[in-house]
Amino acid sequence: MAFELPALPYAYDALGPYMSAETLEFHHDKHHQAYVTNGNKLLEGSGLEGKSLEEIVKESYGKNAGLFNNAGQHYNHLHFWNWMKPNGGGTSLPGTIAKAIDTDLGGYDKFKADFTAAGAGQFGSGWAWLAVKDGKLEVMKTPNGENPLVHGATPILGVDVWEHSYYIDYRNARPKYLEAFVDSLINWEYVEQLYTAAS
Ligand code: FE2
Repeated sequence: MAFELPALPYAYDALGPYMSAETLEFHHDKHHQAYVTNGNKLLEGSGLEGKSLEEIVKESYGKNAGLFNNAGQHYNHLHFWNWMKPNGGGTSLPGTIAKAIDTDLGGYDKFKADFTAAGAGQFGSGWAWLAVKDGKLEVMKTPNGENPLVHGATPILGVDVWEHSYYIDYRNARPKYLEAFVDSLINWEYVEQLYTAAS
């Protein structure tokens, strides 16, 4: 199916002061739009036209780099907008995901330390993830447009660490951006929803 850019699920200025309207205008309207436009061009004639987005990501991996990069980034960004909300983040998590973080990852503080370290430690562009693999939560990181789908896991939370995600608001201070993302932006209800669907 052809890729489409949905509207943001909140106003452009809704995530301030942690993520500015200017960042969201460029990130959503320019960067995500480019992945959609280029992905659609590369999808034509690829043999994967009738497939779902998840199938296109998995089946183009290692075979069609151009299509994979754009389809992967389209998938990642579709979720990324929903992984954030105004007045998000913090330590009041819905019950099911809170319990799984305690059991599988050693508690919220350990999750936060490992997740932000994965984002800060991803050399160059990429993503840090919370994913479900073999029924258990795992913190992962991937380069460029890659995501846990191609590593046999289901992503339930991801943070974009490409410079286009934070340079306007934080300049080179990626760890400060990651801290604000976890403390003030994460939409844990959406994470819980994806976790329930994946388990
Ligand atoms: Fe991005």
